[in-house]
Amino acid sequence: MPRTSHRIALIPGDGIGGEVIPPATAVLDTVGRRHGLTFTYDTFDWSCERYAVEGAMMPPDGLDRIRAHDAILLGAVGWPGVPDHVSLWGLLIPIRREFDQYVNMRPISVFDGVQSPLKDALPRGVDGGVDLVIVRENSEGEYSTIGGRFGHGEGEFALQESVFTRAGIRRIAEFGFSLAEERRGRLVAATKSNGIVHTMPFWDEVVSESAAAHPGVTWHLEHIDALAAKMVLHPGDFDVVLGSNLFGDILSDLAAAVAGSIGIAPSANLNPSGEWPSMFEPVHGSAPDIAGRGVANPLGAIWSASMMLDHLGHREAGAEVLEAIRASVRDGHLTRDLGGTASTAEMTHAVLDRLGEH
Ligand code: NAI
Ligand code: MG
Repeated sequence: MPRTSHRIALIPGDGIGGEVIPPATAVLDTVGRRHGLTFTYDTFDWSCERYAVEGAMMPPDGLDRIRAHDAILLGAVGWPGVPDHVSLWGLLIPIRREFDQYVNMRPISVFDGVQSPLKDALPRGVDGGVDLVIVRENSEGEYSTIGGRFGHGEGEFALQESVFTRAGIRRIAEFGFSLAEERRGRLVAATKSNGIVHTMPFWDEVVSESAAAHPGVTWHLEHIDALAAKMVLHPGDFDVVLGSNLFGDILSDLAAAVAGSIGIAPSANLNPSGEWPSMFEPVHGSAPDIAGRGVANPLGAIWSASMMLDHLGHREAGAEVLEAIRASVRDGHLTRDLGGTASTAEMTHAVLDRLGEH
């Protein structure tokens, strides 16, 4: 039996991060009441605002303060004036790496009532429709600190190394194939072994070994450039898409845009062993262009909270939240990024109302 009481670390972060986290906790509390779950929240002000005052995104013992929490719910970090690599490497990446959150999982669905920019991107259920999950390796690969800048003047150059380990590829491939088994049994792994001659053939080889242990999954390798094009042309063809850190990052924003808005897209940074807390966050950033106006779409954060419920063992509650999101947009409650006029508060109430109706 999963536990019924959970301690959650909240990191609203910057900009609209602080506007979408309260809707997510309101939804957690509402669905929690129906399922006998209680959540206690500890809020941390780690952000670019803090960086401007203290010179660091989080305190030196920050990771220790959230190590014992059951999960982390994060809004968005990044703000003009603080270089993006500072906010990323000062907060998000340390959390992902310290807590060995080696899976970045991003489900993408086209919802009934949401207009995709692509005419052939249909909701699931309509001619197959779009319902896929990007599984991105989240701990190694192209995002490494190995390298540097050398020389000077016209002779200056930069070197950036990628690190792919057998164990690292193996565990993300295992996660991807197991997930495909639970879903529709199909997987595509992104590669670029024609152009990147050391790491990518190695990736292909280890992924193929994992595939052999999952004979029920139909799968193939596809070069990232062709895969990107297919995701735009035939997004309904995909089930699980497996990618390295960089390829998975790019594909997930592409797929989120295909689904209609980055404002809806959720993500989970998972430590599948459960030894350390996993972190749940909307895919979008701090959106300085709309921050402070109460118009941000809260659905990406709410869907992330639904993924958190799944991870904590409350799948029924998680599914109810996702269904409430679906029903709200189907009934025409849409924020501006989706072509509607609803405010953050109105959108949140639409979801809360539907949760109450169950
Ligand atoms: P962004 O995702 O913040 O915004 C891109 C566009 O989408 C903007 O026009 C914005 O208004 C819109 N948008 C995003 N989320 C929305 C929502 N929930 N509702 C309605 N519209 C929404 O990406 P951008 O502008 O490239 O980055 C802004 C800052 O956020 C940067 O500092 C960046 O580093 C940071 N960032 C942080 C991320 C994170 O915390 N995981 C992810 C992406 C960006
Ligand atoms: Mg990204």
